[in-house]
Amino acid sequence: MSKQRNILVTGGAGFIGSNFVHTLLESNEDLKVTVVDKLTYAGNLKNLERWLNDKRFQFIKLDITDKEKVLDLANQIEINEIAHFAAESHVDRSILGPEEFVKTNVLGTFYMLELGKKLFEMNSLRVFLHVSTDEVFGTLGKDGAFTELTPYAPNSPYSASKAGSDHLVRSYFHTYQLPVITTNCSNNYGPFHFPEKLIPLMILNCLQGKSLPVYGTGENIRDWLYVKDHCLAINLVMKKGKFGETYNIGTRNEKTNLEIVNLICDLMDKKHPEGKPHRNLIKFVKDRPGHDFRYAIDPKKIETEIGWKPIYKFEVAIEETIDWYLNNKVWWEEIISGQYNQYYELQYKEAN
Ligand code: NAD
Ligand code: DAU
Repeated sequence: MSKQRNILVTGGAGFIGSNFVHTLLESNEDLKVTVVDKLTYAGNLKNLERWLNDKRFQFIKLDITDKEKVLDLANQIEINEIAHFAAESHVDRSILGPEEFVKTNVLGTFYMLELGKKLFEMNSLRVFLHVSTDEVFGTLGKDGAFTELTPYAPNSPYSASKAGSDHLVRSYFHTYQLPVITTNCSNNYGPFHFPEKLIPLMILNCLQGKSLPVYGTGENIRDWLYVKDHCLAINLVMKKGKFGETYNIGTRNEKTNLEIVNLICDLMDKKHPEGKPHRNLIKFVKDRPGHDFRYAIDPKKIETEIGWKPIYKFEVAIEETIDWYLNNKVWWEEIISGQYNQYYELQYKEAN
């Protein structure tokens, strides 16, 4: 097997996948990266623009639910590692239309595992890293945190489809000894985050003087992880993780949604004073059906067994994130003025 890392990244044109490609190609490692991505509404080649002419990088437009094309990758390119990010990722969309979630997240992951098995049989696969979510564990009350031993209890079509994919991944280890590892992380934030998710949506709505829709009372809690820390963690798990194991990734950074929205408003007051005070834009709207109350990750296992620690502080990283949106107006203007806008407006969000 080649010493060089030849990494296939699925979903590499999306939010976390593209950040992962940046992490890999910015490192001094001897590696090649192939991104396969269907370029759904959430995939954007602009996220990867800086690498398009780099010899270490190639992009292949591909739908992971196309079995033949997926399996054919084994004959087309050298692959010894797979980082599987591709998924339908937005909970609200899964409530409105779950079918794509079942197709891509369950069936697509199944075909990716079949590709992994083929490569493994060709003696070519070193590791298959499956990126999953803490949402598979369901919801927490006020106390406690998810560990790797927390039973699965997914509550949305999105999390159920991710749970299904996690079980398939697990089964390919036990049945075929495929060198798989699954990571379950908490809510990411950072550059290239698609502006349907809480943090980028609030930043862009502040910039446009639009209302800031907060679901229910805003007391739901999420555990925020900076995407750059997450990508470094995944890279480390690919090198040091134990096959067949799962690792939770989080940074003990719980905030209520209202805390997040208020903080963004206050930072925007400083950075974009025209719209001041941005808190006046907050509008409490109907709650998400089946809205999980709280997520919190216990990251002890990845800290002690892999030696991973986050390097970014939330207070700094959230400002860096806001600055990224302020400095990348062309990127988000193209998104919000495109077809996606139809959905975005439709979603809009009745008052309580
Ligand atoms: P995203 O929606 O920003 O990107 C998903 C990418 O997958 C897009 O580029 C899209 O084009 C691609 N894709 C979708 N369907 C495809 C298909 N059928 N074939 C090929 N490509 C396809 O998602 P993200 O936020 O970057 O999430 C990446 C992964 O991380 C997902 O598996 C998600 O479940 C998981 N995750 C995300 C978060 C988060 O906070 N964003 C947290 C935990 C886990
Ligand atoms: O926990 C990990 C998960 O985090 C990932 O698996 C998902 O892919 C990712 O999308 C994210 O899911 P959430 O549903 O937690 O993220 P979202 O940004 O959609 O919402 C965060 C919280 O903010 C949630 O409690 C709902 C609330 N919310 C969201 C939006 C879009 C609002 O109050 N208003 C909004 O407009």
